[in-house]
Amino acid sequence: MRARSRIAAIAATLTAAALICIPAPAGPAQAETHDVGYDRYSLIVDGERVLLWTGEFHYFRLPGPALWRDVLEKMRAAGFNGVSLYFNWGYHSPAPGEYDFSGIRDVDRLLRLTEELGLYVVARPGPYINAETTGGGLPAWLKTVPGRARSSDPGYTRAYREWLAHIDPIIARHQVTRGGSVIAYNAENEYAANTDAAYMEDIQRQARAHGIDVPITHNQCCDASWTPTWASGLGAVQIPGVDDYPQSFECREPDTWGTWGEGVTERLSPDSPVYAAEYQAGAIDVNRAGYGQCRELTGPGFMKVYYKSNLAASGATMFGYYMAFGGTNWGRLGQPNDVYTSYDYGAPITENRQLTAKYDEFKRQGLFVTTVAPLTKTDPATAPASDNPSVRTEARANPDTGTQFVLVRHADRKTDGDESADLTWTTPDGTYDLPVRLEGRDAKILMAGYDMGGQRLAATTSELLTHTAADGRDIAVLYGTEGVAGTTVLRYGTRPDVKVLSGSVKTSFTDGDLKLDYTHKGLARVEITGGGRKPLLLLLGTDEEAAEFWRSGNTLIRGTHLVRSAQTKGDTVAIRADLAKTTEFEVFTSARHVTLNGRGTRTRTTPSGTLVARAKGPRPVKLPALKYWRGEQGAPESAPGFDDSDWRIADRTTTVSPIKPKKPPVLYADDYGFHHGHVWYRGHFTATGSESSVELNAITGKGGIYQVWLNGRYLGSAAGGEQKDADAPVNENPGPGTFEIPPDLLGKGEKAVLSVLVENMGHNDDWTADDVRHKQPRGLVNADMTTNPVTWRIQGTRAQDPLRGPLSTGGLYGERNGWHLPSAPTRTWTRTSPSRPTTPGVHWYTTKVRLALPRTQDVPVTLHFNKGKGRYRALIFVNGWNLGEYVNGEIQHDFALPNGILDPRGHNTLTLALITEDDSKPGAVSLTAAGNVRGGAQMTP
Ligand code: GAL
Repeated sequence: MRARSRIAAIAATLTAAALICIPAPAGPAQAETHDVGYDRYSLIVDGERVLLWTGEFHYFRLPGPALWRDVLEKMRAAGFNGVSLYFNWGYHSPAPGEYDFSGIRDVDRLLRLTEELGLYVVARPGPYINAETTGGGLPAWLKTVPGRARSSDPGYTRAYREWLAHIDPIIARHQVTRGGSVIAYNAENEYAANTDAAYMEDIQRQARAHGIDVPITHNQCCDASWTPTWASGLGAVQIPGVDDYPQSFECREPDTWGTWGEGVTERLSPDSPVYAAEYQAGAIDVNRAGYGQCRELTGPGFMKVYYKSNLAASGATMFGYYMAFGGTNWGRLGQPNDVYTSYDYGAPITENRQLTAKYDEFKRQGLFVTTVAPLTKTDPATAPASDNPSVRTEARANPDTGTQFVLVRHADRKTDGDESADLTWTTPDGTYDLPVRLEGRDAKILMAGYDMGGQRLAATTSELLTHTAADGRDIAVLYGTEGVAGTTVLRYGTRPDVKVLSGSVKTSFTDGDLKLDYTHKGLARVEITGGGRKPLLLLLGTDEEAAEFWRSGNTLIRGTHLVRSAQTKGDTVAIRADLAKTTEFEVFTSARHVTLNGRGTRTRTTPSGTLVARAKGPRPVKLPALKYWRGEQGAPESAPGFDDSDWRIADRTTTVSPIKPKKPPVLYADDYGFHHGHVWYRGHFTATGSESSVELNAITGKGGIYQVWLNGRYLGSAAGGEQKDADAPVNENPGPGTFEIPPDLLGKGEKAVLSVLVENMGHNDDWTADDVRHKQPRGLVNADMTTNPVTWRIQGTRAQDPLRGPLSTGGLYGERNGWHLPSAPTRTWTRTSPSRPTTPGVHWYTTKVRLALPRTQDVPVTLHFNKGKGRYRALIFVNGWNLGEYVNGEIQHDFALPNGILDPRGHNTLTLALITEDDSKPGAVSLTAAGNVRGGAQMTP
């Protein structure tokens, strides 16, 4: 079924009354429009099949639009031809009716960037997105709106239609059909529990009415055994896809294998392509092993076996790898049950934008799948016979070209043994007996019957990285495991001239077959001319050598740390590249001159007919020590005389939260409009004199704490409650704390005030669409201390910060008074240091940091916390932005300070709000460089 027919059908059913109309933003600059369709094999743009190879990127986890370019260019360089983007409702909407798409929230800019970079976009605006974001992307204000979220309840319907009316038109004007980048639109997210088909249908009706005309998709959790799949019936989408996380999320055991199964994406519909909507490319660190181990759990071995199995077994042509770059839960962006500040995810690109071994494997696979067009249309085919039952083969072939794709893997997917086999392989060009070998956790996709530019690749036991044409010849790169033998057979009309330029390659010619035998080692080069075909430079390398190559357009480059782009104009190729060290690099091009990051370079021509130039690496950098601090006490609310007369009185008696208070009043922070960060309570009462303890109960979300003072005396702290996903129905007694009252503290008939500081670690998600999790309260849920009446006052965030948004600033005294901002009047603060011993409470520290990092280098900076003694935590503010929370004793010690927020060539204000539960001795803090390259996204051709 082509997209357009269904769009017309849906459009016909629209009723104007169901729509909220927001004036459409200015139209796209692009003139060119395209048709987007699909059939059972693939997406089709203007009649051309597309294999969509996307990685997930969360713009909201990288609060610096200038860095979006860096990550997206790195993704493109790894061979991704698209990016999958959640749009986070709560991130844009601080209050009902209020939406912000400016600055770090300028998704129009993000979509323009994808257009400029030539990346397709799968737009995923929810309304629910999960993604381990606070509330799963639902705005916190929705907690006070009656009506079950993710259903067609009228209260929720009004709310989500408002969001779609804002986000859809932005997405719509960037569609491929209007000359933009958006090729598909995903409705909802893993909508599998407590489903409501009318709601699912309405999201799509809204989208169509707002101008979405690309295919609508859905990502089904977690394999097709979950129902509904939204493949048919009311609420069905055009292209249903499947999410799959076969390695699970137990990063403490990085050697485990396939905990959640085979991971082969299933076909959900006979009429649309097989879509691996979210395929595991990392993991959340649920059990705090560290993201390094998550990266191992989902490392190159896993990627080879699972991704290639998926390609060659299911014929999927649409992929979304979750995550390509994870980023940071800066501010209060994270959902506290599963994640902490870092959302690095063990992804191929680290939180600090560094490339990893997983990036190399993505590049090997990404260049392959986006080079070889016959992969876009394949059917199951007869696989070559293997003479070793431990080596299994599976095959698919393109019905039009006959090109075969053979998966070679261990029969026992879990083994890491060393197995060899002889394959008897009937290809379109003849039958071949070829040896193969698998060492360790490995799988290969071998090809036969492929028209490779001007060449005919009959069969190969190496894997194809990519091929191109430059300088009047074809250039192809094949690769295999170091030390393992490979054979490649090419067809010629007559015997060609073969020159082995480097390496050791044996060749023979029989009946039109040029057979090359070699062992993968370093990079061998073979020049083949004559034989009735265009000349060919064949490069035969190891996995590692393959990862040295970059491709931009028709240009291949090897040796630089990264190539962002290569553009040929006349006889000059302009390369934008990053250099991690001083090195030579090689350019496979028709051009005669090379510029690197805008400057001409001297080149020499190699015997392979390529150009080699030398490039300088980065200068070492030194970051300043953080020596000069000033400090101020930050919990005056704990003092009995503190003036709280302008605080709100907490006297509500009802709430829409599923957790009801045992007795009034409702003390929940959200019910008073305080949704993020810390909240203070002050309970005023007249003492009876017989009070002996205070019994409190608070929900903070996992990892949060609350602290209690009575008449200025610190009574202690307790862990705030959490509602775990597994806990249903809701917890009766979520975050209990009993605090003894010292006998001398309260006198009969005397005024008393209890001050309580409650942290809010973020809101739970709504994975099961039942409201129980995301609508659970934050703040005090119960308080018992005296038989006399208590008047409660509550205070959270005071003023919204239009630049940084609601997730950045909470309700600490210092935050309410702008102490976290660079403009804070901190000159009067006392000279001190954040690693001095300190007492329970809130302590602010600030220092100025002048950086002078080289303009031509990209140096991501992190803030490192040494482990200290005691129970304390620190909110980190850089130039006013809350960039996360260090919790002493927890796993994360290094915090990303993204350039853009941090000025790498200017003055910065670093401020810490240290929250101490006991007499602590905090560890030292310092700046570290998480990388250093010459180059960076700012380098222009
Ligand atoms: C998926 C979900 C994503 C994310 C992921 C785990 O089920 O769709 O949003 O939560 O799991 O990181």
